[in-house]
Amino acid sequence: MVTVHLSVVCYLLAVVSVTCGPVEEENPEFWRSLAQSTLRSALARRQNTNVAKNIVLFLGDGMGVTTITAARILKGQMENRTGEETVMNMDTFPYVGLAKVYSVDFQIPDSASTGTAYLCGVKTNLNTVGVNAAARNGVCRSQKGNEVTSILKWAKDAGKSVGIVTTTRVQHATPAASYAHSASRTWYSDADLPLSAVNEGCVDIAVQLITNTDIDVIIGGGRKYMTPKGDPDPEYPTDVSSQGQRKDKRNLINEWLGMKQEKVARFVWNKTDFDAVDPEKTDYLMALFEPGDLRYDVERDSRMDPSIIETTEKAIKILQKNPNGFFLLVEGKSPVFGLDFLPYTTLMYGNGPGHKIQNNKRPDIRKVDTTHKDYVQQSAAPLDTETHGGEDVALFAHGPMAHLFQGVYEQNYIAHAMAYAACIGANQQHCTPVLPTNTDPGSAAPDTPLWSMMSLLLSMMTAVLLY
Ligand SMILES: *[C@@H]1O[C@H](CO)[C@@H](O)[C@H](O)[C@H]1NC(C)=O
Ligand SMILES: *[C@@H]1O[C@H](CO)[C@@H](O)[C@H](O)[C@H]1NC(C)=O
Repeated sequence: MVTVHLSVVCYLLAVVSVTCGPVEEENPEFWRSLAQSTLRSALARRQNTNVAKNIVLFLGDGMGVTTITAARILKGQMENRTGEETVMNMDTFPYVGLAKVYSVDFQIPDSASTGTAYLCGVKTNLNTVGVNAAARNGVCRSQKGNEVTSILKWAKDAGKSVGIVTTTRVQHATPAASYAHSASRTWYSDADLPLSAVNEGCVDIAVQLITNTDIDVIIGGGRKYMTPKGDPDPEYPTDVSSQGQRKDKRNLINEWLGMKQEKVARFVWNKTDFDAVDPEKTDYLMALFEPGDLRYDVERDSRMDPSIIETTEKAIKILQKNPNGFFLLVEGKSPVFGLDFLPYTTLMYGNGPGHKIQNNKRPDIRKVDTTHKDYVQQSAAPLDTETHGGEDVALFAHGPMAHLFQGVYEQNYIAHAMAYAACIGANQQHCTPVLPTNTDPGSAAPDTPLWSMMSLLLSMMTAVLLY
């Protein structure tokens, strides 16, 4: 799954500078005054030590610093500017840190091990979710006693509402690390478990979605792991590969609705029904728009599936009704596409399918449509798909205690810092027994967090928004 998801990153087009820059850039006063203005805002920055009421963690899976630069340039060029000078919403976040992403057993991690690190606060092995590194990939027995809980559970235990919004199947490794414990990230439904794992009592990720932490909002794809084997999909009734997968014949969607009878709970699978959900009157929402992963934004059928901006907005409107606040995990893909004006792209990914040598030379891509969605970004080393990189991932933070995210740290620190900021989880010695507040004497919290988040989503990167 990582592979499909990450191939989007490979499609992302880096754009090189055009030959002549804006005329003001030739004047040194332009640069001096820009620098002085940046200096003034750095000097004016005050630490915000309030307690964060809400936590939103945005993740651009596989988004390295190269992608951030490319996205920034593309954004600017789509606005008819040269690009590099563009300030993205997240560029204005006052604190930036670098997370070291390696897993316990590999230098280059995957979504399962990284999700477990930044959500559960513990580094682990490749392909495992919600378990510590004493558990072994695919070995059910080794999972027992090695489960670790996530900030989603800590938030729920503290009385907050919690949600996940993703463009993948909701059983995918990243969201799964927030609610499941599985020695294998691929145990989506019971049909994916080997017999030995069934005999040893391991439970698939889809079942854990509805039976572990009580999640208020679940939005993404993954219907087929929830329904009985052979059940036709509502959207693709004749497609065999979209049929229900569950050998145990359970319908987990109906079971989930049955558990919420005291509350207003809705299941939807298309945009019409999704748009009709009134967030003010809805306690629980499960929205599964595809049998598996959602389609890439450029291929999305906008009549059937809402965008990640629409889904995140609805999720927040449902969650923010809780006076104790909420935790929301948002996992997306970059919808950025752009133009490539020169015969090579300046930003390369370290590996991936873009590696091509023809006649002992790098191919001339002048005649290639690099804006086509199937164009593959050039890369230095040949691989079928881009894997996660081993390089540090930048994290942008905003709001109470955002200064905790400065510097270079291990990725599992992120869960601890978010929990500290919101006074949830184990470490609460610093928390005075008062209600969480989002009042902000300084400059930190945006006036309209919802809209701030929406523009953040347009440049989907790893970011923590506390408010
Ligand atoms: C950029 O320029 C093109 C061509 O002149 C124009 O059609 C488009 O509306 C412009 N976009 C913006 C965001 O100004
Ligand atoms: C959306 O789902 C509902 C509930 O299953 C169904 O009645 C409706 O026809 C669907 N709409 C579309 C456009 O498929």
